Amino acid sequence: MGRIAYVNGQYVRHGDAVVHIEDRGFQFADAVYEVIAVQKGCLIDGDGHFDRLERSLSAIQISLPMSRAALKLVIREVLRQNRITFGAIYLQISRGQAPRDFSFPQGIIPTLVVTAKRIKPFDFNIVSKGVEVISIEDIRWKRCDIKSVSLLAGAMGKTHAVNQGAFEAWQINAEGFVTEGTSSNAWIVTPEGELVTRHLDANILGGITRQTILKLAQEKNLKYVERAFSLQEAQKAREAFTSSTTAFIRPVVKIDGVGIGDGKPGALCLELLKLYGKHMEQAQ
Ligand code: PDD
Repeated sequence: MGRIAYVNGQYVRHGDAVVHIEDRGFQFADAVYEVIAVQKGCLIDGDGHFDRLERSLSAIQISLPMSRAALKLVIREVLRQNRITFGAIYLQISRGQAPRDFSFPQGIIPTLVVTAKRIKPFDFNIVSKGVEVISIEDIRWKRCDIKSVSLLAGAMGKTHAVNQGAFEAWQINAEGFVTEGTSSNAWIVTPEGELVTRHLDANILGGITRQTILKLAQEKNLKYVERAFSLQEAQKAREAFTSSTTAFIRPVVKIDGVGIGDGKPGALCLELLKLYGKHMEQAQ
């Protein structure tokens, strides 16, 4: 059986799934999206993703095209029709189709697309291997808190990282602080053992994995602080890691060629990775 996508009320063959050339997602990136991990058929942190989807939509004045419960049913059906138990859901909502005009047209129907792809089940032994990141200038806009499909800066940055043999690029703002990865949040552990990730504001996406890691850290009484850190501080850190829905938690062992800590995945990172694995096991 081939892949099936949901597009505006219909389940269609993936190869036949299309939206109109005057869809504002295509012409203006006037659209938001979510990526949700699926383990053993369960959505990981589904509510966090739906909350963020609603925040992104409300920031650009698009209303949720169906109730959350109905959206969950569509997701379930896409997973069922694609026979996916370990994978990722991609959900995109654009403002809809209208003759090209910069200002938001009123009264149009949002476009809703849901697809799913298979990914390998979470495997601690694979994910716990260290990765390298490089730094790049953060050239993005000033509303990175909206999970918009306008991802060209991130795509350029990730391509640059991959061409250098790195897993991810951490973006550096004009003040020399790390904002976040092109598609992940950035973390360090200071030489004093304090877990640090950048505070939330309009310059980064509030990662759902980030939110869960902070919750797990809190439950374990681990010391953490949400504040900006510079590239230099990161290179001198005891540990570093990067987090996202699809990458989970990845220990960072080198930043721009400089070894982090003893050059191996750090103990706190591995502890959090184990806790995150358990958290996913418990998903219902
Ligand atoms: N990206 N920051 C950016 C810019 C991101 O694009 C992402 C996720 C994250 C991590 O967020 P979360 O933990 O909620 O996945 C941070 C997804 C995975 C993507 O675009 O495919």
